[in-house]
Amino acid sequence: MPTDSPGRPRVILDCDPGHDDVIAIVVASHVTDLAGVTTVAGNAPLDRTTYNACVIRDAIDLDVEVHSGAERPLVAEPKFAGFVHGESGLDGADLPVPERGADSTDAVGFIIETCRASPGTWLVPTGPLTNIALAIRSAPDLLDHVSGISLMGGGTFGNRTPLAEFNVWADPEAAAVVFGSGADITMAGLDVTHQFLVTSDRIEQVAAMDSPFTNMITDLFRFFSENYISRHDRIRGAALHDPLAVLALARPDLFEAVDRHVAVETIGEHTAGMTVIDRRDISDREAPNVHVLERVDDGAAWDLVIEALHAANRRSTLRRTAP
Ligand code: RIB
Ligand code: CA
Repeated sequence: MPTDSPGRPRVILDCDPGHDDVIAIVVASHVTDLAGVTTVAGNAPLDRTTYNACVIRDAIDLDVEVHSGAERPLVAEPKFAGFVHGESGLDGADLPVPERGADSTDAVGFIIETCRASPGTWLVPTGPLTNIALAIRSAPDLLDHVSGISLMGGGTFGNRTPLAEFNVWADPEAAAVVFGSGADITMAGLDVTHQFLVTSDRIEQVAAMDSPFTNMITDLFRFFSENYISRHDRIRGAALHDPLAVLALARPDLFEAVDRHVAVETIGEHTAGMTVIDRRDISDREAPNVHVLERVDDGAAWDLVIEALHAANRRSTLRRTAP
């Protein structure tokens, strides 16, 4: 991760919208030089995650391309997260129809060509790592051109299984390729993302903005948080995972990170999809390959989400519909 605030890092956001991916797009449009959005199957099938990315791009009038990518994992059978995000991937709000669809179906080619043409670009995956793994495999020179990878995924505990977080669990072979690639990796895992909750008072803060765009975000937040609260013993709202992978690049000062060795389990009956994080304090541990985010200033991070929502709102083309 950058050691100081690098201004507006140039990023490609690879995502599976997804309620929290939507906020990652909004935040990235505000704090980064967003070079493009690529989509992957994950929270919902590829056609839906791609549609949802186009909905948000057009709702806030973003001048960025959307390129769809992998519709299934490298090896594993496709698995989705309708139990969290709904079958559409973005249940809970009346979504506006996008003005246009994806600009291509070649996310991998877009990633490779954009990084070659613009050295120093960051890759920010917030879904399963299938597109990133395919790009690394297709272009051995890719990582020479990127500054690094800031991903949402993994953790010392799971959400899809006791030990596996969804993005890694959905395509463990892809995650193993990425974590083993030698890239400069920053990991926003569940340990840090569960510090960043969409609580009811925060939802009301967005509701008070009262515009067609922010009312849609309010509805999405309400659905997302009600789902989390219904599925957990004690949680005050949905964990807003994905924007942290973006903020770790634009505002590294908001985070505390530790360098650790992280490997991905791909075959364990009970552990497949686990990120095996070496936290031992003994000398013969493996050399670190990941900056693991451990703490976030969640108040400051939320203030940036609000700032980004205001900026997106000013750009939004959505108009109130007649009563
Ligand atoms: O485990 C949380 C991750 O899985 C987030 O990226 C969420 O959007 C889903 O993709
Ligand atoms: Ca996601």
